[in-house]
Amino acid sequence: MTPYTKKDVLLQANNVSLSYDGKCILYDICFAIRDIVRPGLLQGQVVSLVGRSGIGKTQLFRLLSGLQKPDGGRITIRERVPSAKPDGSIQVYRERIVQPGDMGVIFQNYYQFGWRTVGQSLMLAARQNKVLAGKEEDVIRQFTQQFDIEDVMSRYPAQLSGGQQQRVSIIQQLLKGSDFLLLDEPFSGLDVCVLDKVVELLLQVSLSDELKTLIIVSHDIATAVAISDTAFILGKKPGHEGSTLVKEIDLIERGLAWRNDVREEKVFRETIREIKECL
Ligand SMILES: Nc1ncnc2c1ncn2[C@@H]1O[C@H](COP(=O)(O)OP(=O)(O)OP(=O)(O)O)[C@@H](O)[C@H]1O
Ligand SMILES: [Mg+2]
Repeated sequence: MTPYTKKDVLLQANNVSLSYDGKCILYDICFAIRDIVRPGLLQGQVVSLVGRSGIGKTQLFRLLSGLQKPDGGRITIRERVPSAKPDGSIQVYRERIVQPGDMGVIFQNYYQFGWRTVGQSLMLAARQNKVLAGKEEDVIRQFTQQFDIEDVMSRYPAQLSGGQQQRVSIIQQLLKGSDFLLLDEPFSGLDVCVLDKVVELLLQVSLSDELKTLIIVSHDIATAVAISDTAFILGKKPGHEGSTLVKEIDLIERGLAWRNDVREEKVFRETIREIKECL
């Protein structure tokens, strides 16, 4: 396996908790996502957050996106401070509490603006990303050709299939260019061919930038784990009402990260079994 190091913390959750009407949903959630560095390679991070239906994945997703504040604890991210040097030679970072808009968010029910066509939505997203200035149309064409949605550019969201909506949502968030991409159940309701395309798209995204970090919330454990470097398992502990992280698995250490053929490995099957036992 190629050498790697885990460097700076990109996202940190500290003692995060959430309740509704006095009923505990999440408690004591603590984890860190670190920048993985592999010499000579652009290597982003892919983290999966798995757990049974109703365990609190979507609630944690909302907290991570900054759209909802936890009742206790805090979630911080490391952000790039615009460089003081015009050539960008010195990059400065700071840590701060996550805010709405920090992350590209792909919801469980792919929400899109119903009154805009796919083409208009994608152009709007691309215009938010200064890096793409002047190249918006080319980049959009590249993505839409690659992922087979060029024929639907003039359609409205209600005229798309679930799989098409989902690819549009992912591409839309990619165009915005945030370092973090948060996906809630990105594999549900997709046929096998589309699923392969989405997996390929996510892997490509993760390799597009050193700091690109994908957080995949899913109950499709095998698909999520197969493309991740780290898996966090959300579950119950005896004597507690809510859910918390019951296990963290470093998939790199097990030789299961960054490989196409991982599902054929005995260690992979054992890891999936181990995760299921925690659910
Ligand atoms: N607004 C709310 N008020 C009260 N309870 C809520 C609210 N929203 C969610 N819950 C509860 O929080 C718990 C966790 O829900 P959540 O949607 O996070 O589950 P999930 O793990 O994402 O499930 P799934 O895999 O089915 O999407 C559930 O018991 C749910 O009923
Ligand atoms: Mg959910």
